Amino acid sequence: MEVDGVQAVASICKKVDIIPSEFIRSENEQPAITTLHGVVLEVPVIDLSDSDEEKLVELVAESSKNWGIFQVVNHGIPDESISKLIEVGKKFFELPKEEKEVIAKTPESGIEGYGTSLEKEIDGKKGWVDHLFHRVWPPSAINYKYWPKNPPSYREANEKYAEKLREVSDKLFKYLSLGIGLEGHEMKAAAGGDDLIYMMKINYYPPCPRPDLALGVAAHTDMSTLTILVPNEVQGLQVFRDDNWYDVKYIPNALIIHIGDQIEIMSNGKYKAVFHRTTVNKEKTRMSWPVFLEPPAEHEVGPISKLVNEENPSKYKTKKFKDYFYCKLNKLPQ
Ligand code: OGA
Ligand code: NI
Repeated sequence: MEVDGVQAVASICKKVDIIPSEFIRSENEQPAITTLHGVVLEVPVIDLSDSDEEKLVELVAESSKNWGIFQVVNHGIPDESISKLIEVGKKFFELPKEEKEVIAKTPESGIEGYGTSLEKEIDGKKGWVDHLFHRVWPPSAINYKYWPKNPPSYREANEKYAEKLREVSDKLFKYLSLGIGLEGHEMKAAAGGDDLIYMMKINYYPPCPRPDLALGVAAHTDMSTLTILVPNEVQGLQVFRDDNWYDVKYIPNALIIHIGDQIEIMSNGKYKAVFHRTTVNKEKTRMSWPVFLEPPAEHEVGPISKLVNEENPSKYKTKKFKDYFYCKLNKLPQ
């Protein structure tokens, strides 16, 4: 299937300094007008190597209640594993269009594959971004046909990263559980346990002649449980806080953790999914590698029953993840 990627649009626009109108945001979304400039937001930074587990539980819980986003350092994933992940993803996106299209999304592939603009935006606007989705864990959920064959080390780099990521994810689920009075295993179990799906996404944001008018990914919360993200060195992630959009300050080799909708639901609103978006850059290509930790399609997610009582009535419906996904993608009420 042919993908008329933003990468192709970008290479034409570079010459003329204008962008097609479908990429021009309305004034209430344009980053130049709606960003609070001159400040970078320092989201909480948590050192996962701290031996004081109680403190870690407290920090993860506080950050997830008050911010919905935090960064982790000393997370146990070797720097080399992260730079390999970045290198092979970059090589894939730098291949000629025809080679990338070998693994293009098709109507049958669902979300997996190489493509452009996932969600239908209500006003028909498009994000200045192309992407690739493929599952990286568990083995039974992997479709290698959506993984790049080129560069040849793509598979090894992704498998190594995914293996290390599982340890980080398990720790975070444990701290999130303990942080709201559950037993350590309960939050992960409610999210699908060992069947939890690790969905890798690569975002590729080409240089944009009018970064003041366009957005990469429009404002949203992730529908995952947690999202664990690695960015390249180009600024672009923004978070909405106190009625303003802010650039988020990155720490090299940290992992950026987003609380997604499913954790908010399971915690019955104690933890908050973070509202975020991305901007693009005039000269540089921005890339990011979020891994969405998703419940299996048929798995039902709702507020964990221990957290629901007379004073805390259930605030969310219990439904299969695939039904949640469908409604969110099509902008239907949940
Ligand atoms: C996303 C997303 C953020 C980024 O893909 O859901 O929010 O930094 N990406 O690219
Ligand atoms: Ni997101």
